[in-house]
Amino acid sequence: MRLKLRIWRQTGPTVPGTLVDYVAEGISADMSFLEMIDVVNEGLTKKGEDAIAFDSDCREGICGTCSLVVNGVPHGPDRGTTVCQLHMRRLKDGETITIEPWRAAAFPVVKDLVVDRSAFDRVIAAGGYVSVNCGGAQDGNAILIPKSVSDLAMDSAACIGCGACVAACKNASAHLFVSAKISHLALLPQGDVERRRRVVAMVNQADAEGFGSCSNEGECEAVCPKEIPISNIARMTREYVRALLGA
Ligand code: SF4
Ligand code: FES
Repeated sequence: MRLKLRIWRQTGPTVPGTLVDYVAEGISADMSFLEMIDVVNEGLTKKGEDAIAFDSDCREGICGTCSLVVNGVPHGPDRGTTVCQLHMRRLKDGETITIEPWRAAAFPVVKDLVVDRSAFDRVIAAGGYVSVNCGGAQDGNAILIPKSVSDLAMDSAACIGCGACVAACKNASAHLFVSAKISHLALLPQGDVERRRRVVAMVNQADAEGFGSCSNEGECEAVCPKEIPISNIARMTREYVRALLGA
């Protein structure tokens, strides 16, 4: 495959960036999207030019580190898929592909396609600890949790903290991410002790980080690689109001 690329280059957080044209040649349709950029970077390095900076780690859709907007869509054209699991066969030979970083004030660009997502870490840290009773191990069936509830909690816990939901939202809202983190603990009895304090602290921290509010557009759910449903946002709102009312 031969592709024309338009890639966001930005040398630092305070320097204006711009889209720069590149050509990717000799690309196998079986390569992943990130391997295609690796090939481009190898060519740049051989020419003595600065390689394109981008984030990745597991390259298996697990860690949430990869963060590219491909042709305007966070994580690219495949639903329920991280960009590290996007394969070149999904794109057309000769196609022009625009690659940009997540765009949100709370995720400032560090360099090229790398953004600082430490705001998410601070939201998680604001959630604090979960109390666990010490002592002898409880019977496995001492705390009964219906399968439907444990499934909901597990679906919420699938959030990998990538930030695509923020990048897709016109308000740069982090509601889907925060609500997934709130939900997976609020649904389970183990998360009940700090439930009220947790939701207020995490929502307030997200506001303090500069994430926007939610206007129910649904782009977050559409681009989420773990298909976290926006019903979590309704649950988070209920949890928040309940906590404020002391109910
Ligand atoms: S809710 Fe989805 S898009 Fe948002 S951070 Fe979690 S996994 Fe990524
Ligand atoms: S690099 Fe880990 S999810 Fe993409």
